[in-house]
Amino acid sequence: MTASWACAPTRWPWHLETDQLTIEPLHQQMIPDVIALMELGEPFITARTYSDYWLYATLFSSTCPVAIIDGQVVGTVIAFRSQDDPSEVYVQDVMTHPDHRRRGITRRLMARVLERAREMGCGRIFLTSEPHNQAAHRAWVALGFGSVSGDRTVDGVPVITDFKGPGKTRAVYELTIARSPGTVE
Ligand SMILES: CC(C)(COP(=O)(O)OP(=O)(O)OC[C@H]1O[C@@H](n2cnc3c(N)ncnc32)[C@H](O)[C@@H]1OP(=O)(O)O)[C@@H](O)C(=O)NCCC(=O)NCCS
Repeated sequence: MTASWACAPTRWPWHLETDQLTIEPLHQQMIPDVIALMELGEPFITARTYSDYWLYATLFSSTCPVAIIDGQVVGTVIAFRSQDDPSEVYVQDVMTHPDHRRRGITRRLMARVLERAREMGCGRIFLTSEPHNQAAHRAWVALGFGSVSGDRTVDGVPVITDFKGPGKTRAVYELTIARSPGTVE
């Protein structure tokens, strides 16, 4: 499936302002606010440690966009380009503040990750959701992701048993990125 929700490509580092929403790469000063945001994500998101976010802000900021409204961190995507297969970007966490859901924040953040993946010449973005996370399932489908085949279904969604280790069954989604002229490896 090819993405249809991408913004027009711009150069990185990027900084997007539309209405009150600003999207910025994760930087170290944001880490306490990002942890506070992630702590609102139970049961599907668990905040990681400060040093984890330090790593993301220091080594992966261009694929970790943060959404800010009136100075408040309201959403983030944590994603990485694979070193083992540099054509792939893996999305680890996606979170929108409960007061700001269904306003297109994830759509905008994921568009930013797609834009960066395209700049890096990647061909695929993939992510996982926990079974029963219907909001996430609907979001990934709405954003053009397809389900990777599973060994069974949960609530009609294909899942792969133990995908992330024993007891960690996941629905897996992927988006193929169409190559565009002028892509930089
Ligand atoms: C899933 C989540 C990240 C979506 O974030 P969001 O900012 O609300 O998503 P958006 O507003 O960009 O939604 C984009 C589209 O996804 C679909 N969608 C998102 N949430 C939905 C929901 N609860 N029910 C149905 N469709 C939904 C819609 O089609 C939506 O477009 P629309 O509002 O124009 O119809 C958010 O619900 C969240 O943070 N949940 C808790 C953490 C989590 O589960 N993260 C994902 C782990 S894999």
